Amino acid sequence: MATSKRQILVTSALPYANGSIHLGHLVEYIQTDIWVRFQKMQGHTCTYVCADDAHGTPIMLRAQNEGITPEALINKVGTEHRADFADFLIKFDHFHSTHSDENRELASVIYTRLRDGGYIKTRTIRQAYDPEKEMFLPDRFIKGTCPNPKCGAEDQYGDNCEVCGATYSPTDLINPVSAISGATPVEKESEHYFFDLAAFETMLRDWINEEHMQPAIRKKLNEWFEAGLQDWDISRDAPYFGFEIPDAPNKYFYVWLDAPIGYMASFKHLCDKTPGLDFDTYWKNDSDAEVYHFIGKDIAYFHTLFWPAMLTGAGFRKPSAVFCHGFLTVNGMKMSKSRGTFIQARTYLDHLNPEYLRYYFAAKLGNGIDDLDLNMDDFMARVNADLVGKVVNIASRCAGFISKRFDGMLADTLDSFSGEEDLFISNNTDSHFVRDQYEQREFGMAMRAITAMADRINQYIDTKQPWVIAKEEGRDRELHVICTTGLNLFRQLICYLKPVLPKMAADSEAFLNIAPLQWDAVSRPLLNHKINPFKPLMTRVEQDKIDAIIAASQQNLTPVSKHTKQQKKGSAMEPIADQIEYEDFAKLDLRIAKIVKAEHVEGADKLLQLTLDIGGETRNVFAGIKSAYAPEDLEGKLTVMVANLAPRKMRFGVSEGMVLAAGPGGKELFVLHPDAGAQPGMRVK
Ligand code: 2FM
Ligand code: ZN
Repeated sequence: MATSKRQILVTSALPYANGSIHLGHLVEYIQTDIWVRFQKMQGHTCTYVCADDAHGTPIMLRAQNEGITPEALINKVGTEHRADFADFLIKFDHFHSTHSDENRELASVIYTRLRDGGYIKTRTIRQAYDPEKEMFLPDRFIKGTCPNPKCGAEDQYGDNCEVCGATYSPTDLINPVSAISGATPVEKESEHYFFDLAAFETMLRDWINEEHMQPAIRKKLNEWFEAGLQDWDISRDAPYFGFEIPDAPNKYFYVWLDAPIGYMASFKHLCDKTPGLDFDTYWKNDSDAEVYHFIGKDIAYFHTLFWPAMLTGAGFRKPSAVFCHGFLTVNGMKMSKSRGTFIQARTYLDHLNPEYLRYYFAAKLGNGIDDLDLNMDDFMARVNADLVGKVVNIASRCAGFISKRFDGMLADTLDSFSGEEDLFISNNTDSHFVRDQYEQREFGMAMRAITAMADRINQYIDTKQPWVIAKEEGRDRELHVICTTGLNLFRQLICYLKPVLPKMAADSEAFLNIAPLQWDAVSRPLLNHKINPFKPLMTRVEQDKIDAIIAASQQNLTPVSKHTKQQKKGSAMEPIADQIEYEDFAKLDLRIAKIVKAEHVEGADKLLQLTLDIGGETRNVFAGIKSAYAPEDLEGKLTVMVANLAPRKMRFGVSEGMVLAAGPGGKELFVLHPDAGAQPGMRVK
């Protein structure tokens, strides 16, 4: 590895400016931030930029639904994103927006150079068009019945069926409708602009052999080469929120064209206000500077094919490497709104210290593309055991004696180690090992090495028993040296943990009364030095805080947006609850019931009292359907009830079951009525 000072530019994928940051996003930002902080601690010039990805149809439509301009929407979301990142201690050198002057300028330069190089072609294509809304419809904005004859699921998107997994084109959908207006789409022609990706095939094939990406991604790329590189459609027709193509009125760059250019634009903005930081030094064709993109594995195609090809065609350098990571699962499953595991960054921050999550992700991150699981029990156990129980414990075991017995002054020497203990300070093996793991993005390995060191340091303190020595006459010097040694070793651990735990490191630096730690600073011991009184550096993760996050995330279930409400009835679907086994379903005894009597309940705002005949047995049931039905509407009708629900004592009497109803509530509540022919008492299966 080069030991000279490196010039490194690092990016994370640009989050869309129409949604909140959630824990799934944070895997990447935390991973990148740790790597950047590590590089800075090595003394390299490492610059970390990002931006909001502000263009595209979903952002345009969401702004319309909120009755604001897209600019106002992206400003609002941008402010929220910046706060979330800052509070998770993600320290960008600059966070920009793709809707910026720099990005408009750079997108124009790149497009013009590609066009002049002969890499842009035009072609007329036929596409679905919403005649009411007067706009072309992206596949995701067309819904209809799945064309797979074995499936036929309704309300599926224009590109794939979420029920059977079939992929198709929107023209194959049965009864397609625009998800925006509900109108039936028509086909319409339009001229589109295409980027000739295949022209770069030879260059790309060479490039992917040069260790610019992980083996699994290279394998994927080879499959894409075998499948054949296709022209890439880079234009969208008005109305579109984005940049108009310079020589094509009413045609806009597709969001994915100007998104990666946003990396350069953010950096350009920073360069323009930072003396000594030069845009061309990093982006010129033969640059020695390093450029790394951290992304999720789902967007590798854009970053390893389109992006290097665009850069090459426009005369810029290619990335030094693209680092992909896997997805986040929570408790072993995909994040789920109904399970309360689709956790927004802000919800987490409302309850827990961001450094817990930074540490946990670090402990589980390697340099591959495997998915990463946030297991809540393991999260709590690991943070409490490793950080609070091992690392912080070292300081708290030594600091009190230094303050009380030695007026806060460290001794003039360290304990003399022998054998294995010698590894702590005078030998650099640990430092080199941990440094190499960080460099390789093997953060889990680094964390394991650090906690093993913490174990050894705690063993040292256990063996020396300063609390015993403190009670014995004439052993002050010994006590002083042991505690000074313990605190020096603590400083060493904090130095290695600093990329992951910047706040705890800053608090420790304040406690130790030292300048911000750089990587090699710990090779010089801290002696004859006055420290400050110790304050707890981290408290334990508590189960009730985790429970509160899950509960709050369940309440966060996305409210039905105006946009969704405009869709055809039934498409604003509540999330499907957790999967159950057949045995669970079979426990429900659903029966046809005849409503023989329905009455108001005195003093109850929502309830009607129903007398139900389930064939040879009558049941008294209180149902919260008063806002939707007058009693007389129900009498004599058939419905479906859960007959084996345990009786529940209510304020007005005992309810012996429950009737099934559907709808959001209020007047929009519909009691289920079986077909005529069903008889009271029949079991529903
Ligand atoms: O997938 C996404 O969330 C995109 N907004 C990422 C863009 S990364 C880069 F290319 F701008
Ligand atoms: Zn289907």
